[in-house]
Amino acid sequence: KKTLKDVDVKGKRVFCRVDFNVPMQDGEITDDTRIRAALPTIQYLIDQGAKVILASHFGRPKGKVVEEMRLTPAGVRLSELLGKNVQKADEAYGDSVKSLIESMNEGDVLLLENVRFYPGEEKNDSELAKSFAELADVYVNDAFGAAHRAHASTEGIAHHLPAVSGLLMEKELDVLGKALSNPERPFTAIIGGAKVKDKIGVIENLLEKVDNLIIGGGLAYTFVKAQGHEVGKSLLEADKVDLAKSFIEKAKEKGVNFYMPVDAIVADDFSAEANSKAVAIEEIPSDWEALDIGPKTAEIYRDVIQKSKLVIWNGPMGVFEIDKFAGGTKAVAEALAEAEGTYSVIGGGDSAAAVEKFNLADKMSHISTGGGASLEFMEGKALPGVVALNDK
Ligand code: 3PG
Repeated sequence: KKTLKDVDVKGKRVFCRVDFNVPMQDGEITDDTRIRAALPTIQYLIDQGAKVILASHFGRPKGKVVEEMRLTPAGVRLSELLGKNVQKADEAYGDSVKSLIESMNEGDVLLLENVRFYPGEEKNDSELAKSFAELADVYVNDAFGAAHRAHASTEGIAHHLPAVSGLLMEKELDVLGKALSNPERPFTAIIGGAKVKDKIGVIENLLEKVDNLIIGGGLAYTFVKAQGHEVGKSLLEADKVDLAKSFIEKAKEKGVNFYMPVDAIVADDFSAEANSKAVAIEEIPSDWEALDIGPKTAEIYRDVIQKSKLVIWNGPMGVFEIDKFAGGTKAVAEALAEAEGTYSVIGGGDSAAAVEKFNLADKMSHISTGGGASLEFMEGKALPGVVALNDK
């Protein structure tokens, strides 16, 4: 794909799609990782003398103006990070926006309003895509986190302007692409999270590629059941037990080492006040639930991680939001942080949040800014926001 470096942007109006869909509480941004991740592209455009028009979605306002979902706080934070004034528009296209753009100088930055305030955005409406395109001369997509969405500002607009990837997009595609197509070995995938249902595609795709597959999180207990053990009140997807069996079989056929919990932290309630203890995986009490991998499992996983050259991690090992059940996820994060010569790729979303929580983010090789997008990429799916960009 063509990138930002392949086009001349001096003096041009550049419509740059970013993903400023950041966690927010009571109007305060609680994690500005995604804004900081977009800075290299924005700074590059400024330095090149482009007129930088930024667009993003925020939340899911469903095609209506929702006051709490304006991009104003993101604009304020961006301005602080750039050390430069960022003008904020109240709309995302139309005459008012056009006149703001007309008064821009080279290197100025304008942030448009939340593109999801318009129903046409998620419908990928071609009229809306054209209205976005009318604002600019060049389209840059730096919103890796939204690249799995075929929306007007991520896909539609690319058909109306020269369309290239931004620096963050390029880096994400490069790291994830290399990991999947030409991995250093041993190559290990760690798959956690709550549900098998959400990880079917990624397990299927990675079973074709990895040397080791490590399973944890709520979804592990469907695999434990598939092995014939009782799981008490743990999360169980009864309709996925056969599928779990077939994954274990497939791993055997492919010579993939398949690692499952050998012990678990069980609790008599899903709460910080619950009674909890470590038990062997065959001995989950019938009225208790497993909420984390146990210490023996964590040791085994740590060992596999340390012997790997490349590790992809998607999904926590337990309920890491509650300290009592955070041990397994923390052990995995620490093993990745300490492993020398291991390239660690953290899929976005919960695993990225866990690494942040344990203050280990700067010890990871790459933390993806995409949750759903990195998952779809690891499933081997084409991302519409990438497909639509111009080829070299
Ligand atoms: C994300 O947070 O994963 C992206 O910004 C996409 O958001 P969405 O799931 O609301 O499309």
